[in-house]
Amino acid sequence: MTSATEATGATAATGASPVTLTTSDGEHLAFGCAPGQTVLEAATEWGAALPAACRRGTCGSCRATVTGGSYDLDTHSPQALPPGDRDAGAVLLCRTRPHGPLTADLPYGNSRILYGGVPVREGTVTALEPVARDTVRVELLLDEDEELGAGFQFDAGQFVEVRVPGREERRAYSLANTGNWDGRVELFVRLRPGGLFSSYLHDRARVGDRLTVHGPQGAFGLRETGTRPRWFVGGGTGLAPLLSMARQMAEWQDPQPARFFFGVNETEDVFAEAELEAVAAEAAAFAYEICVWRPGPEWRGAVGTPADRVAEALRTADAADGLPDVYVCGPPPLVETVAAAALAGGVPPEHVFRERFLPT
Ligand SMILES: Cc1cc2nc3c(=O)[nH]c(=O)nc-3n(C[C@H](O)[C@H](O)[C@H](O)COP(=O)(O)OP(=O)(O)OC[C@H]3O[C@@H](n4cnc5c(N)ncnc54)[C@H](O)[C@@H]3O)c2cc1C
Ligand code: FES
Repeated sequence: MTSATEATGATAATGASPVTLTTSDGEHLAFGCAPGQTVLEAATEWGAALPAACRRGTCGSCRATVTGGSYDLDTHSPQALPPGDRDAGAVLLCRTRPHGPLTADLPYGNSRILYGGVPVREGTVTALEPVARDTVRVELLLDEDEELGAGFQFDAGQFVEVRVPGREERRAYSLANTGNWDGRVELFVRLRPGGLFSSYLHDRARVGDRLTVHGPQGAFGLRETGTRPRWFVGGGTGLAPLLSMARQMAEWQDPQPARFFFGVNETEDVFAEAELEAVAAEAAAFAYEICVWRPGPEWRGAVGTPADRVAEALRTADAADGLPDVYVCGPPPLVETVAAAALAGGVPPEHVFRERFLPT
């Protein structure tokens, strides 16, 4: 890998700003950022594809923390980068244009950076199954790749970008299955009225359609933190990457006790009960509950939001198991209320891992 010193020397002649990014496991990436380029573009040009999805400041996938240097931050969504975080030095690398030398910390390890670029694969839709109101389970089988073979290897928690058929736009979807040797991809997609990919799925998608998939990519995933319990908290299709993590724990027979809190708004929104039940049957120590915020009279399960359930569970947590690592995913308001409940219940901030589903 290029050293920081080499990059600084090389950039002096080109007018590029020297940028040094440091991963959470201490690797340094040093490259030049040409005038007018964003740090994300410069990193890609240098040969390092960093986790990113929308590349236009709406999704928050490319967050980092600047530790030195000055920069311009292009327009972005306040959900992707809240003003308080921005004032504390957080940036979106797809919107960051350095004025001179810049250093920043990345919130993930070197293994999440794709030095050969993001793999692009073609695949065939093998299942399209409405599983709840506005939610579709999509299954793909990727073609065999000359270099990667037939399989699809990824870390539980990662996402792929799927190109909208007939268009250039791509949308990010979290993988719900686990890495496999057949090239299988399983996604849960919430249909948004008038949405580009949602309209394709709703109006014209058919089994047998061909789709282009970019990935796997993304920094969300299981952390090796010893034997602490793992709690997974998902809202709506935010269940997907957490289901992948729970399935991986079951496949590997991980010993950590795990709990899964899955929250939806109404009874018609419930899905994936069979999948959670299958994990419970296979895993070493796994319990799950589905909670409905505004249930109909027929609902017999838990009532409330996942944040309520997490707060209550932390009050009554078995002290012998210790405080859990909390993995939370879904729409930003859910992610923030669950994170707040976890912190209020005594979980240290560095043990709360978040993935926000924002527009890509
Ligand atoms: C890392 C990551 C992983 C994701 N994984 C999943 C997943 O597994 N399942 C899933 O269903 N979605 C997921 N998303 C969201 C997904 O990428 C799309 O944004 C969403 O499916 C809408 O795409 P669309 O083309 O149908 O709508 P668009 O044409 O993009 O938008 C239509 C309208 O809906 C609004 N909108 C779009 N997305 C959202 C959103 N997430 N929240 C609120 N409003 C929105 C837009 O602002 C617009 O008004 C993920 C997002 C990220 C960043
Ligand atoms: S990739 Fe930068 S905010 Fe989406």
